[in-house]
Amino acid sequence: MTAAALIDFARRLPKAELHLHLEGSLEPEMMMALARRNKISLAFKSVEEARAAYRFTKLQDFLDLYYEGTQVLRTEEDFFDLTIAYLNRARADNVRHVEFFFDPQGHAERGLPFGVSISGILTALKMSRAQFGMTGKLILCFLRHLDEDAAFATLKEAEPWLDRIDAVGLASSELGHPPEKFARVFAAAKERGLKLCAHAGEEGPPDYVRGSLDHLKIDRLDHGNRSLEDADLVARLKDLQMTLTVCPLSNLKLCVVKDMREHPLKRMLDLGLKATVNSDDPAYFGGYMMANFEAVIEALDLSAENIRTLTKNSFAGSFLSDGEKRAHLAAIDKVPFQT
Ligand code: HPA
Ligand code: ZN
Repeated sequence: MTAAALIDFARRLPKAELHLHLEGSLEPEMMMALARRNKISLAFKSVEEARAAYRFTKLQDFLDLYYEGTQVLRTEEDFFDLTIAYLNRARADNVRHVEFFFDPQGHAERGLPFGVSISGILTALKMSRAQFGMTGKLILCFLRHLDEDAAFATLKEAEPWLDRIDAVGLASSELGHPPEKFARVFAAAKERGLKLCAHAGEEGPPDYVRGSLDHLKIDRLDHGNRSLEDADLVARLKDLQMTLTVCPLSNLKLCVVKDMREHPLKRMLDLGLKATVNSDDPAYFGGYMMANFEAVIEALDLSAENIRTLTKNSFAGSFLSDGEKRAHLAAIDKVPFQT
């Protein structure tokens, strides 16, 4: 079976993206255009200079640039434009549903009220649903380098919008910021009916994954790569049928794996874990959904059934209703491997 045939199959399958930081889809071209529009002076003077700087040896190298880039986002229109641009790229890859992380705490530092970012994002989601039947959900991401009081303040600011937010997440610098730090605010989010996800086991040890289960009571695990270092933890994740939102190109760019041929995605599937493929911060890590599928198909010995399973896991692990999940899963079953 050739890689080209598998890539074609992956392209034709409907997919859900469950791990996408909206601010991480800010391409350098748009960053420069918004800097001009909003009269902001950036560290980068050109698109080429920005791209050339996207070389990372660890998560923090990336985060420093990511927060620099988000400076240009100032108005509702900026967030609308950013969301539409991402949705157009995702639609071209046959992504039918997206669960977006967004970082209101990062924007609050620049004085942006909560309503500015979320209004722009919601307008774009409404349009793409009406025009293309693409659906989207929002995950309010707490920044773990800030303290829990700051997360509580953000949850309070989000109060008027909670009927349009589906979940909370936990991102930013993982090492040194264990999940326990956010146990109370996650409990408060759950009381408000929100689903819970957390980044864990990207750079952090298996204990951070265990802590996310025990102290945060997560519904979904973002990354989770380092869980594989601990057989008991793998067994527990399997028992829980926990969805892992895996991000292959991100893992390569942030040196979580040295070579794509060492990526644990196939091992995860073989162990019975509910792994999915996602793009994380596609403007920084070298591509959107299909670029990630292409990278793992070329590097790992994935079968056509592995690929079908990855796309099924993405809808099954989403926060869509059971009826919506069933419809997407049935559509996946109808896609033939050979056309
Ligand atoms: N990891 C952790 N935090 C993040 C990321 C990431 O890849 N992207 C945006 N915030
Ligand atoms: Zn992420």
